[in-house]
Amino acid sequence: MSDPIQMYLDLMKKTLTFYLWPEPPHPLESTFYRRPQISRVILTSIAKVLKKFRLRLMLDRPFTQEQRENGLVWPGYADTMIGLKRLDNLQYCAETAIREGVPGDFIETGVWRGGACIFMRAILKAHGVTNRKVFVADSFEGLPKPDEEKYPADKGDRHHTHTVLAISQKEVETNFSKYDLLDHQVVFLKGWFKDTLPSAPIEKLAVLRLDGDMYGSTIEVLDNLYPKLSKGGFCIIDDYALKGCRQAVDDYRKNHGIDSPLNEVDWSGRWWRKG
Ligand SMILES: C[S@@+](CC[C@H](N)C(=O)[O-])C[C@H]1O[C@@H](n2cnc3c(N)ncnc32)[C@H](O)[C@@H]1O
Repeated sequence: MSDPIQMYLDLMKKTLTFYLWPEPPHPLESTFYRRPQISRVILTSIAKVLKKFRLRLMLDRPFTQEQRENGLVWPGYADTMIGLKRLDNLQYCAETAIREGVPGDFIETGVWRGGACIFMRAILKAHGVTNRKVFVADSFEGLPKPDEEKYPADKGDRHHTHTVLAISQKEVETNFSKYDLLDHQVVFLKGWFKDTLPSAPIEKLAVLRLDGDMYGSTIEVLDNLYPKLSKGGFCIIDDYALKGCRQAVDDYRKNHGIDSPLNEVDWSGRWWRKG
């Protein structure tokens, strides 16, 4: 590979996924969400005492390259959790849209630390595209409590308890800045999808990437944004492996007569092109 554009984008993918470095140990408190209440209380007290001596409890969590390639872990330091294969797919969709002149902007709904959106902005920059925006849609507070009456498929969903998924807008902006990619072509849509998407200042989309994990967080995006996806545009689903998301995608495609093939990226990623 000697094309500087492809070399830059390749390095971006490896950096955004932390693929270049071994995973350093994680601060223990960042793993509290996986522990029972009692051990959280004890560990929080110990952590407080240690902090006075500028000490911290760390947990060793070595990841394999295979886990990083396939987005199989919630990383401690990477700017995205979607893994290299899904970033390759995002690059394919975005570059095809640019090359073929599919009209519209790019969006990800559910951005966490922002890595996939940062990568979309990098693709526009690398190809000298100045007339498309990257929309960055998130609550920046984690996932909502399930609305079990409206979306029975989300019954018992626990994603909202994972504080590790709540990343502030400020932090995501800082992440864009680290790569010199925060500018007027990046537009933040802060709030719950059901509130922000119906009135979002979006005319047309060429790439619609969904990563909201739940039934509600998937169907609300499809209902509000799929009609804005241009013919030939790309709809990318990150969470087809999750029951709620899968059902929302299957319901939407069935109810709207979408028969474009649902292509596989990896164990969880899927995509199709709007016919
Ligand atoms: C799994 S993370 C996204 C990972 C990210 N795409 C990446 O590249 O690593 C899910 C994100 O979706 C957001 N989210 C889920 N449901 C939402 C909703 N209904 N409204 C707003 N944000 C939501 C959460 O705040 C969280 O940041």
